[in-house]
Amino acid sequence: MMLPYANLQNDIPVLLAPMSGVTDAPFRKQAIRFGAKVAITEMVAGEELTQGHKEAETRLTRPTALNGCHVVQLVGRTADPLRRAAHIASESGADVIDINMGCPSRRVTGGLSGSALMRDLDHAESLIAAVHEGAGKTPVTLKMRLGWDRENLCAPELTVRAQKIGVSLITIHGRTRQDFYNGEADWSAVRASTRAANVPVIVNGDIVDAATAREALARSEAKGVMIGRAATGLPWLIDKVSSDLNGRPFAEPDLETQIDSLLAQTADSIALYGNRVGIRVVRKHVSAAFDYWLQTGRLRSDAVSLKPVLCQAGSLEDLTSAFTNLRSQTLDMVA
Ligand SMILES: Cc1cc2nc3c(=O)[nH]c(=O)nc-3n(C[C@H](O)[C@H](O)[C@H](O)COP(=O)(O)O)c2cc1C
Repeated sequence: MMLPYANLQNDIPVLLAPMSGVTDAPFRKQAIRFGAKVAITEMVAGEELTQGHKEAETRLTRPTALNGCHVVQLVGRTADPLRRAAHIASESGADVIDINMGCPSRRVTGGLSGSALMRDLDHAESLIAAVHEGAGKTPVTLKMRLGWDRENLCAPELTVRAQKIGVSLITIHGRTRQDFYNGEADWSAVRASTRAANVPVIVNGDIVDAATAREALARSEAKGVMIGRAATGLPWLIDKVSSDLNGRPFAEPDLETQIDSLLAQTADSIALYGNRVGIRVVRKHVSAAFDYWLQTGRLRSDAVSLKPVLCQAGSLEDLTSAFTNLRSQTLDMVA
């Protein structure tokens, strides 16, 4: 089974999940810098892209210095704008176009897109066909959930319909739309789709390290894994899990390197969105990274008092001096 990612043919794929507000271009650039091979944009509303909305165009951005595979994810509910959006994405340099049929948000499903499409497979099929047509030679992939609810686990049927149209890879989050993010992802339930598929299936949901990745692969019989929330603040996690699964050595970046990466991401974020939004967007990464350093003993537990200063920094200068402070005050706190 060929993967649509030219640079990943011989590996068990470990993909960074698209997460709106989290995996923007500045973060994806860091993930690639630390070895991720594939970077998927946050979902881009197809209709807005065709109308030239600034946010949609910003999301289309290919991170600078990107030598990984650039995947643009589209979401929408009407065929014609999606067809045109796929054409725009393809012309803008997307290596692959992904379709979002998994988003559970009421804002998205209320507009009958995202996972709402799992309630109307004929309509879903017509949208996939439209994207496939608009994408031209650019490969098209699909991301979905198990179904709308437990009574309607239609992922295997949508898998078969999608691959007939020409979709070349399918990612399945092991929850239904009605599960939202509750409970645990059901990796075994992905297996029915894996067995129905003649294209690679990627399993997603609650994978946080190599051990959970292995278990998800075993239960789902999928070809690879996708990791989302666990990678927040840890752009090197994709390469860590990938190295483990593919039998390569891995050295986690030291604290200094991780701090430098967060500052570089902040500078890019401010350049992309302006200071106010730019600094706000990186806070969740700073917070998650700090928690990880504490949990893993990279910082001693009494360093916790410095977290609010880092998370409330209002500019790149503030954040830089908060990290300088962290370094000088915590030399003996660094394990
Ligand atoms: C804040 C947030 C934003 C998300 N945005 C998107 C999105 O834009 N497109 C998409 O397909 N999935 C999106 N997702 C779903 C994730 O890609 C993934 O399927 C889900 O988080 C389960 O994987 P995880 O347990 O590894 O996080 C989002 C999830 C979160 C938490």
